[in-house]
Amino acid sequence: MLNQSHEEVNTYLELVINHITEAVQVVNSEGITLYYNKFAAEMDGFQVSDVVGKHIFQVYPSLTLETSSIMKVLKTGTPLLDLQQTLVTSTGKIVSIMCSTYPLYRNGVIIGACDISRDITKIKELSERVINLHSELLETRTSERKKTKLLERDNSVRYTFNDIIGSHDSIIKLKILGQRISTNSSSVLVVGETGTGKELVVQSIHSASSRKDKPFVAQNCAAFPATLLESILFGTVKGSFTGAEDRPGLFELSHGGTLFLDEINNMPMELQSKLLRVLQDGTLRRLGDNKIRQVDVRIIACMNVDPEEAMRNKELRIDLYYRLNVVSLTVPPLRERRSDIPALTAHFIQMYNRKLHCLVSGISDESKQVFSTHLWPGNVRELQHTIEHAMNIISGPVIELEHLPTHMRQGKELASEDQVTLGESSLPIILSNVEIKYLTQAMEQCGGNISKAAILLGIPRQTLQYKLKMYNLCSSEKANY
Ligand SMILES: Nc1ncnc2c1ncn2[C@@H]1O[C@H](COP(=O)(O)OP(=O)(O)OP(=O)(O)O)[C@@H](O)[C@H]1O
Ligand SMILES: [Mg+2]
Repeated sequence: MLNQSHEEVNTYLELVINHITEAVQVVNSEGITLYYNKFAAEMDGFQVSDVVGKHIFQVYPSLTLETSSIMKVLKTGTPLLDLQQTLVTSTGKIVSIMCSTYPLYRNGVIIGACDISRDITKIKELSERVINLHSELLETRTSERKKTKLLERDNSVRYTFNDIIGSHDSIIKLKILGQRISTNSSSVLVVGETGTGKELVVQSIHSASSRKDKPFVAQNCAAFPATLLESILFGTVKGSFTGAEDRPGLFELSHGGTLFLDEINNMPMELQSKLLRVLQDGTLRRLGDNKIRQVDVRIIACMNVDPEEAMRNKELRIDLYYRLNVVSLTVPPLRERRSDIPALTAHFIQMYNRKLHCLVSGISDESKQVFSTHLWPGNVRELQHTIEHAMNIISGPVIELEHLPTHMRQGKELASEDQVTLGESSLPIILSNVEIKYLTQAMEQCGGNISKAAILLGIPRQTLQYKLKMYNLCSSEKANY
């Protein structure tokens, strides 16, 4: 019975391994292949039967004891992780792979090794294009500037503090602090929910600084796996891995200017520690290089999750956080600065009047009412898209309720008529929306005083506190007791 289920499990495992998009190869202690999955065969351009039962040197004659990661792992017993290699397959195709090789032990004795590789040809091409485009862009701009002798603002930087619409206290404070820190070169961490305008703030800091005529280079840290991101940021020298060339990374390309690292919490931990080193002494080494290079770059990092939580979840190194957090700016969510909604609405109407050749003059009172109670989970970006959506379908001069997306109108229907359009949302979602709406209203009415809001809502203070936390409606700035 036990044996049978063991066999069944093996069959399932084989099925699974044959369907994954990673190449798996298992060898015994001598280097003879015991298992080779379909994807590996596709990647290498072999048939599974060409490989199973043969020694790896028979199948890959160009490999040696020194260059074969499998043979090295069989010899040393230690895994080799995330190695980048460029291979020529049996059919002549050039593929870039990221490969990890693990020793297999039974009772403390090595019985073989397992090699798991990913085809990263496409990702590598993309990462090289990123670097090339950045270099080309910077070269073009420099030569254009030299030609025209104009000290124009860097094209990739579109925003200044004047473009940040809003007169809520929190925005005024943000602009004042932002302008003040523009004059120095300390690292900055900008935190805020998605769509709150973090990138606007980052670009404004660069535009207001003495670095404004130097490069502004932006890189999203979630876009590439660890080793590629490392070569993008730090550069490479010929021979650091197969196929690598001498090229500078983004740190060197942004010398004298600003390097914007977006979604820093998605940067792999091991790379975060390398980043820390550059932040501490301004020096770096290209991948595979002995030479130490000095760079003068201001780092501005962004994240859209709470840094404390990111540290708890081991997504952000504590030491990196403290190094980046020399200056930190928090961009509040739109629901905490509702007084800015009318100005932002007018701004986006003007923007789309120009873009879409419309003559919209404003929004109806009913739409205003919806805007003032909606929670705006997508923040300013959601407001911008709402206006864009309305102005694409509008025929008259005023944005009416019917021009708003359905989910926003639903909120209004709930508030005014206690009518529910079932079918589009489940009951728990409808109930949570109603709850969020009244909690927000009560907190606003009571100026953020939790005790007063609890009395108004007729629930215990602790219950209100719990619900505010659950719906993420706590504003440390506003909530008080
Ligand atoms: N205060 C503001 N005034 C004018 N436009 C704004 C403001 N805040 C945000 N926007 C606009 O809203 C959109 C989203 O802003 P941005 O890209 O800076 O958000 P973000 O915080 O970086 O979001 P994400 O975390 O999703 O990257 C942009 O089109 C931006 O121009
Ligand atoms: Mg952004």
